[in-house]
Amino acid sequence: MTYREEYFKLQKLQNKYLNNSAIKSLLMDDGGFSEFFQLVNNFDKPIKDENKLNKNIERVMSGEPLQYVLGYAYFVNSNYIVTPEVLIPRQETEQLVVTALTLIMKIFGKDPEITIVDIGTGSGILGIYLKEYFQKSHVICTDISKNALEIAKQNAIKHNVEIEILEGSILEPIKDKKVDVIISNPPYIGNKDTVDEATLKYEPRLALFANPKTYFYEEILKAIDFEIVKDEFFMAFEIGEDMTKELTEIIEERYPGLIYKFDQDICGKDRFLYIIKKEGYVNVI
Ligand SMILES: C[S@@+](CC[C@H](N)C(=O)[O-])C[C@H]1O[C@@H](n2cnc3c(N)ncnc32)[C@H](O)[C@@H]1O
Repeated sequence: MTYREEYFKLQKLQNKYLNNSAIKSLLMDDGGFSEFFQLVNNFDKPIKDENKLNKNIERVMSGEPLQYVLGYAYFVNSNYIVTPEVLIPRQETEQLVVTALTLIMKIFGKDPEITIVDIGTGSGILGIYLKEYFQKSHVICTDISKNALEIAKQNAIKHNVEIEILEGSILEPIKDKKVDVIISNPPYIGNKDTVDEATLKYEPRLALFANPKTYFYEEILKAIDFEIVKDEFFMAFEIGEDMTKELTEIIEERYPGLIYKFDQDICGKDRFLYIIKKEGYVNVI
């Protein structure tokens, strides 16, 4: 069967999970094509591995996330290994890392020799992305999940970057370090009723839930108390959409004088928190 025949057959089979975008991705995966135009250019060529493709189609049709079926996901146009041990990279997290990159350049310069830590790294996307840009930086990726760190390690190899990978809870792996930047997309979901069915069924619980939902932010901010962050530092967080009030109270009460800003995603929801302490850079965020 050719890609053309399979494509039109699958169009008729579409369901809630097997949409047009998933169909294209599954066919591109079979051909080893990274761009859609390559699939179009090979539309009349035979499918390479029909058995595997059919199994993948079944898995997607039954609701398994496409990225777990394929074994990879795209994050800021780059390909990362993902397995059910790690969260599937989200669009908001792309916005977090791209904004963080710009702010780090403004604060520390274009090619800084700084230490960056990605807490709760999962597949490693945040730390690896920043290391690819800031080659002179030292990047530490931490997670409590050994299995997630194994995927982060594989992604670092795939992206040809050297990062330090440390296992442990929140600040524990970096308690003896001095860092300039903390970036984190920690677990922040307080109520499982707000999570969609596929996420609950397939993605790691460890990546999702926090009790209270501000728990990880409170713990990470203690890096200030324990002097893990240097005198001048930058922090970038993804947050849940209903957390600004609680986080503002925590910062204002425990860390008065700190400069911080909430930022919105493309839907206008407050989904990011940036914190900076650096002389003369008050207005940077
Ligand atoms: C929301 S996921 C984020 C993964 C990845 N950074 C991303 O943005 O796709 C949160 C991560 O925090 C990790 N985690 C959960 N509890 C933790 C803890 N106590 N200490 C460190 N990491 C933890 C999970 O294993 C998971 O990989």
